[in-house]
Amino acid sequence: MKKIVISTGGGDAPGLNAVIYSVVHSCYKRGWEVYGSRDGYAGFLDVDDLVRLYPRDVEGIYNLGGTILGSTNKGNPFCRPVENLAGEVQIVDISDKILRNFKRMGFDCHIAIGGDGSLDIAHRFALKGMPVIGVPKTIDNDLEATERTFGFDTAVATATEAIDKLHSTAKSHNRVMVVEVMGRDSGWIALYSGVSGGADVILLPEIPFDIEAVCNKVLDNDLRDKHYSIVVAAEGAVTSDGKGFNKGKGELGRDEVILGGVAEWVAEEVGKRTEKDTRSLVLGHLQRGGTPTTYDRLLALRFGAAAVRMVERRQFDHMVGLRNSAMVAVPIAEAIKRRKKVDLASDKVITARDIGICLGDPSGKEEVDDRTDE
Ligand code: F6P
Repeated sequence: MKKIVISTGGGDAPGLNAVIYSVVHSCYKRGWEVYGSRDGYAGFLDVDDLVRLYPRDVEGIYNLGGTILGSTNKGNPFCRPVENLAGEVQIVDISDKILRNFKRMGFDCHIAIGGDGSLDIAHRFALKGMPVIGVPKTIDNDLEATERTFGFDTAVATATEAIDKLHSTAKSHNRVMVVEVMGRDSGWIALYSGVSGGADVILLPEIPFDIEAVCNKVLDNDLRDKHYSIVVAAEGAVTSDGKGFNKGKGELGRDEVILGGVAEWVAEEVGKRTEKDTRSLVLGHLQRGGTPTTYDRLLALRFGAAAVRMVERRQFDHMVGLRNSAMVAVPIAEAIKRRKKVDLASDKVITARDIGICLGDPSGKEEVDDRTDE
């Protein structure tokens, strides 16, 4: 008999509920108790935010977007900003309190579902003595230790559908449409949706872009009697002279800046330089919403069940990952070391270039090999 607590941290991703469903059912089958902590670690601080989860509580949730537990990307328990009565912000460490409550509540393990930020926090709790198992999640697909994270496939499907829809309006008005997609400093969503959605230009954080190269592609299209262009820009794309785009720190307690602005800038510059009509749009959180695709659902269900098997094997301070189609246990410390970037010599990048997509680099040349990645 074990007592497990699950939490979801960081930005939501389609598939989180499928993991919760899978953990609850896998535990129930073993005769274990499962609890959910609301909004990340809130359930460790206040019992009102701790919910007992029975199979009936998770019925039918495996295909719902979001997380029934709620999530947050503010307020890291190791350095939580708190405003005092004088309105000053103080940084406090509440990790000891959380650990004490975890023990007092009699939990045997915490299954922490999150991206690199949440997994880092989970690892720090593991070092303090909390038995922790990590489950990776992010639509950005930027965790090196797993071939895929759930949420990515759904985000790509949403972005591709949006790009598909832009073609007819761009063509009707002979316009350049610039669409900004998520992904932080990795270009996975931009690359997959841009290639699949017939983009003319894809701007990835991995290839600093030259605005002249973008304009040249637009003008080339005109010469070929194609009077509209679609540009897909990753939110983390940077110019060849080092200009990045963000909207500042955002809410108190966030660790990362809010990225954004590249599409608007590119649209304005292309308009000025080519004299074509341009429009920009930001797909934003649409990419995080909706029903998880079959791929994401299945991966999330597998991650949840694998996490419970890892509890049984006492593989604490490890994260479940996907490698060569199998579930593997990876030390969390190793998993959070590096972000997974688009491999510029990979087949998908070569395909993009072969079918004439401009990637924003003036030369358009990358080291080419004939590897076929998945
Ligand atoms: O990491 C997932 C992600 O959706 C990024 O792609 C994006 O930059 C960020 O989260 C947005 O975060 P928020 O919802 O806090 O604005």
